[in-house]
Amino acid sequence: KRLLMLNGPNLNLLGKREPTIYGNSGLEEVETELRELLDVHGWGLSCFQSNHEGELIDHIHKAEGQFEGIIFNPAAYTHTSVALRDAISAISVPVIEVHISNVHNREPFRRESLLAPVCWGQIAGLGTIGYKVAAQAFLEAEK
Ligand code: DQA
Repeated sequence: KRLLMLNGPNLNLLGKREPTIYGNSGLEEVETELRELLDVHGWGLSCFQSNHEGELIDHIHKAEGQFEGIIFNPAAYTHTSVALRDAISAISVPVIEVHISNVHNREPFRRESLLAPVCWGQIAGLGTIGYKVAAQAFLEAEK
């Protein structure tokens, strides 16, 4: 069994970008920790980050039939992308939306997610632990 972790725009800068909001861990470190957690359960992990909406859409399409779930931090596209919402609706693989920061106590425009209504669930504000919580949910659901 496998999970796909997708990260959207600017998350390549994780660890360097606004560390007071997003923390000091880099994306590679987060990916490694998640891979280790899943490995204990005999699950695999594929990771992809892009600053381009279309590339994220392509990876969502390609995930159909390949993964038990997608852990997705759509970053700023959360609040703007009808196209990503439609891509999630087009596949049967469940998606958990993850936000590192608490999007509900920041600027008002971050409170709205166009994607959350078509996701299995949403995790926000736990820091990068949120990615592990999402993985745990997929593991539990497959038991
Ligand atoms: C984010 C929250 C978004 O509002 C923001 O645009 C990001 C990161 C988070 O992980 O907290 O880039 O998705």
